[in-house]
Amino acid sequence: MRHTQANPKKQHVTKGILLSGGSGTRLYPMTLAASKQLLPVYDKPMIYYPLTTLILAGIREIMIITTPEDQAQFQRLLGSGEQFGVSFTYRIQPKPEGIAQAFQIAEDWIAGSPCALILGDNLIFADGLEHMLRDAACRPHGATVFSYQVRDPERYGVVSFDETGRAVDIVEKPINPPSHWAVTGLYFYDERVCEFARQVKPSARGELEITDLNRIYLAEGTLEVDRLARGCAWLDAGTPDSLMQAGTFVQAIQSRQGLLVGSPTEAAYRMGFIPRERLIATGQKMAKTPLGQTLLHVAAEYGPSTL
Ligand code: G1P
Repeated sequence: MRHTQANPKKQHVTKGILLSGGSGTRLYPMTLAASKQLLPVYDKPMIYYPLTTLILAGIREIMIITTPEDQAQFQRLLGSGEQFGVSFTYRIQPKPEGIAQAFQIAEDWIAGSPCALILGDNLIFADGLEHMLRDAACRPHGATVFSYQVRDPERYGVVSFDETGRAVDIVEKPINPPSHWAVTGLYFYDERVCEFARQVKPSARGELEITDLNRIYLAEGTLEVDRLARGCAWLDAGTPDSLMQAGTFVQAIQSRQGLLVGSPTEAAYRMGFIPRERLIATGQKMAKTPLGQTLLHVAAEYGPSTL
């Protein structure tokens, strides 16, 4: 695993939104009194996984958008971000009126910068993920999304490609999907994102669709669609089955390799965001758990650039 400083490219996207709104109705009754994104995926709260993805992308300024009811619990779990060497800003989405609304809510904070967005229930594991993320974060112009082959594309935004492999269309939850390539909930945008998001009108289901924002970049010819290879895993933990599958997946990898999946602390250490002492302090705080013991093992065995 290469250390960030080995990457000579300039990072353009340094801000990211973690969107954790929504009422999680597909997980009732589990989400009647708790936010979906705080439910456990094996040994960590769900939000740790997308947070880890943003950290691995080199993003240190992070806005966490939640429902009004859930904000205090997210703040209790995540604090200022100092423990991960990042900075959190908290905002509220009063009603679930679409993913693209995040760019209205965050517009003053984004302040004309490029910005990434990840959905709080999206878990992505891939060999070489760091490099893909860094490439997306280093693109100076346009937008980057990731697509993944799924059995049930009608549940997602679906992208179709021409014979040269170029993306030609994206449609949201089509009844007759044109392909099996779903668009994942991780997006990188250039500094025009808020301007473009303002052009998006509510869809038939009354939401500001992220797909419509992506279509603006697509029409302009500046949307890059990276396809995740078949060995990668993209899981959304939004139903009882997918929540269970995600937990089982994480458990299988962690117990086999003795390494962590979705640990923002380990990722922050690896990226050089926190010093070894901070990693040890978090490991000691959780020393009664396998997670804490693994963090201490990482601190003892590895330098940041050797993970
Ligand atoms: C949303 C997006 C969809 C994307 C999916 C990824 O779907 O609208 O384009 O493929 O996230 O998780 P929703 O969460 O609204 O079902």
